[in-house]
Amino acid sequence: MTDTMSHEARVRNFYHDGPGGEAAGQAYSALMGDVWHHGDNAAEKAGKSPLEAAMILEQRLTNLAGIKPGDRVLDFGSGPGGATCAMAIMTGAVFVGLSNTETLSQRARALAEQRDLADRVSFLTVGDTDYRTLTAWPDHSFDAVTFFESVCHLSDKEAFFRAAHRVLRPGGRLVGLDWLQRPFGEHQSPEQIEAFIGAVCEHIRLADLGTLDGYAAMMREAGFTVTHAVDEFAGEPCWGSTPPEDREKWLTYTSPGPAGDLFVQGKRALDAARGAGVFTVGWWAAAKGPAE
Ligand SMILES: C[S@@+](CC[C@H](N)C(=O)[O-])C[C@H]1O[C@@H](n2cnc3c(N)ncnc32)[C@H](O)[C@@H]1O
Repeated sequence: MTDTMSHEARVRNFYHDGPGGEAAGQAYSALMGDVWHHGDNAAEKAGKSPLEAAMILEQRLTNLAGIKPGDRVLDFGSGPGGATCAMAIMTGAVFVGLSNTETLSQRARALAEQRDLADRVSFLTVGDTDYRTLTAWPDHSFDAVTFFESVCHLSDKEAFFRAAHRVLRPGGRLVGLDWLQRPFGEHQSPEQIEAFIGAVCEHIRLADLGTLDGYAAMMREAGFTVTHAVDEFAGEPCWGSTPPEDREKWLTYTSPGPAGDLFVQGKRALDAARGAGVFTVGWWAAAKGPAE
């Protein structure tokens, strides 16, 4: 990795498994399996596993998007593909998952084959900045666009939302979940928040962390009608998807995967931000045109 690498290339390299890659994807798969996003807060509190809670959240968002059998859906930032495959099974829709790291797409394709979904779930690797235009697709190509904890990596989030709006059919839906920053407790000023969030972004290769309202504003600016903007952990620290009994496993993780202690530093930075309450995850639902 060099200092001259673009942010998006650093993200690609972060997940890349081959020579020179930081192979974070291997570590995440070893620790979390093939679904890498937070789950429904209430479900986890009720004792569901992180995977069950993640699927409940996927179901909630696909319901809000009104995804039906045969619909065409773009899942932006599909990673190892578990969430994309699960949503395809839940809805009966045709999914296209996108990543800019080919080794992730390869893993996701193998999963779709294994789950007998290869005829309606595909995974494409796009160029580092293709998310800004999604030029591979003409206007009105999709019934829905989904994103699960991927837009936080992007340096031009506004461009992604504009592109998502363009490729959706009129009335189509955008739904997604993402990492966010927020004021919490004694940590109210931008400087206090940045003291935690800066290290998270550096170690986990995020461009920056947005806010719940900031995402909704970007969606509106792109032309969407935003119907939901919800902090899943409002008023409480967000420890979702990281049960305390798993902590040691993360902090002592060595291989296969990331070189050096990058991964452990990322976990420490994230846990500090979770503990301070300034990190959370939020979700949105939005419509292209007036919401029905
Ligand atoms: C944390 S993973 C989320 C994986 C998956 N959505 C899940 O929840 O299991 C982030 C994903 O965003 C993708 N991503 C990051 N930057 C990207 C870019 N510039 N273009 C396309 N995909 C990108 C990564 O390749 C990865 O697949």
